[in-house]
Amino acid sequence: MAQRSALILSGPNLDLLGTREPEIYGVDTLEVLVEGARREAIDLGWSVDHRQSNSSSEIVSFIHESRHDAIIINPGAFTHYAWSIHDALRAYSGVIIEVHLSNPQRRESWRHESVIAPVARGTVAGFGAAGYLLAIRAAALLVGK
Ligand code: DQA
Repeated sequence: MAQRSALILSGPNLDLLGTREPEIYGVDTLEVLVEGARREAIDLGWSVDHRQSNSSSEIVSFIHESRHDAIIINPGAFTHYAWSIHDALRAYSGVIIEVHLSNPQRRESWRHESVIAPVARGTVAGFGAAGYLLAIRAAALLVGK
């Protein structure tokens, strides 16, 4: 069987991780987070690709182009209003897992709604970098080896 693969998608401002509000998002850079997820994936026999964009149209295109078994998406602030990303994910047939470093439910009320949650199998939020490892594990469990 072909090797399973996941696409990690990172939305706006996540390229600033490491220096962006470290008290909320931690001190790891995005590169470090993705490397951790990649190592977890390799242990499970999976491979990982990663794309980051500050533009919703680019994220939509990454979803259209994806042939991965799973998409693990942290849409950043797009979480709360980007219906174009919601629609693109609806047209994707693999497993979708939403990830947030912080727990948006514990923050400002405008962060409480996710337009991505209704199209995701589940959401991992509030566990910092560990959330990416949990998401990879969830993808592997849901898709199988
Ligand atoms: C975030 C939460 C969002 O509300 C915020 O806009 C982000 C990061 C998180 O990972 O906790 O950019 O998705």
